[in-house]
Amino acid sequence: MSTSTPTTAIEPISVTELGARSILDSRGFPTLEVRGTLADGTELRAAAPAGASTGEHEAVELRDGGSAFSGRGVNVAITRLDDEIAPLITGRRWSSIDEVDGALAELDGTSGYRRLGANAVVAVSILATRAFAHAAGQPLHTWISTTTGADELLPVPHFNVLNGGAHAANALDFQEFMIAPVGAATEREAVDTGAEVYHVLRALVADRFGTAGLGDEGGFAPPLADPREALDLLVEAIVEAGRRPGTDDVAIALDPAANGFSLGDGRYRVGDELSRDQLVDYYLTLLDDYPIRSLEDGFAEDDGDGWTAMGEALRRPDGSWRVQTVGDDLYVTDPARIRAGAEKGWSDAVLIKPNQIGTVSQTFAAVATARELGMAAMVSHRSGETVDTFIADLVVGTGVGQIKSGAPARGERVAKYNRLTEIELDRPGLRYGLA
Ligand code: PGA
Ligand code: ZN
Repeated sequence: MSTSTPTTAIEPISVTELGARSILDSRGFPTLEVRGTLADGTELRAAAPAGASTGEHEAVELRDGGSAFSGRGVNVAITRLDDEIAPLITGRRWSSIDEVDGALAELDGTSGYRRLGANAVVAVSILATRAFAHAAGQPLHTWISTTTGADELLPVPHFNVLNGGAHAANALDFQEFMIAPVGAATEREAVDTGAEVYHVLRALVADRFGTAGLGDEGGFAPPLADPREALDLLVEAIVEAGRRPGTDDVAIALDPAANGFSLGDGRYRVGDELSRDQLVDYYLTLLDDYPIRSLEDGFAEDDGDGWTAMGEALRRPDGSWRVQTVGDDLYVTDPARIRAGAEKGWSDAVLIKPNQIGTVSQTFAAVATARELGMAAMVSHRSGETVDTFIADLVVGTGVGQIKSGAPARGERVAKYNRLTEIELDRPGLRYGLA
């Protein structure tokens, strides 16, 4: 993760009109789409994603409550945007994204954007970022790279091909089973490899379970319970697709999302009830038996002792980690939480979700914190998505080298992967791989 000094001055923006409407997300629930017009007549838009297995400390979405859509309407958020955010944003020229985001935080006046809604705030912040890129005459990823001082890099995609936990109706305790084509030479090859393994896996799942139904992120959700059965299926699919299961070719990544199977007090249920130490041992046997390169949220967000125990088991004497250990719900893209976790030796990597922290500039700060602390980072979608592709440009422009955007199927997931291969076409020679 090398950095260079930004060379281009930021052009100011002025947004002449700003409005929002309710659209449906990939789960069929309402979310916000924001539309803005710039002084030169250009129209921009941005949409907010939504999580299902959210962290306790995430920025807070504003939802209507009541009975419609199980209380998930966004009409109150739209009214506040019309009444408060739009006059703020259209009322002046802005000279940096920090300035826009700072004004949004000040207008909101609460922690976690409870008053205006983090769903409204993140969409407006993304729209403003697009406006700055437009004003500078740069593609979004290039503007992000220039602004953050990072070198652009095409990331290794982590395709979530088997779904469990809060994202599926099966009894699988772990939430996400991903494949990562680390050995690919290009983004194109990585995306195609992911899709080919996915098709083989579909046939295996349909043959074995008589159904190839999907979970929220487009991965299959067969009636499995044991994580090992899911891992065996992945290995079989990778081999049958003609690739090598290995941390140097097609690797596996897990997001158990342990909040979902935590029983509290350091106890967990993965089939049997496990103590902290037993769960650490369980992960160690999985690392022995499968080519796993990344392990996210192996312990619950409030179980610091569990994270400490896992860190001690996974850190080698030279300080390197046996597997990339990622904090998602643990850190919620919050620079202060990331710093505290690093000091306690909890993980060597950070998941980056803009709507967890609320604004683009805070997201840049989270990436910068990870980089300063020598931690890796992975940019992530949410389980409830739209076709907005902001995170594809974000991952290239921040150069962190890793993204997860669900399965290589379903429009809201492939929109991001297709944007990555488009950037690669537009930028011949841009490097693909881990940072
Ligand atoms: P969410 O889950 O988007 O449903 O919160 C994604 C994850 O845990 O990584
Ligand atoms: Zn997660």
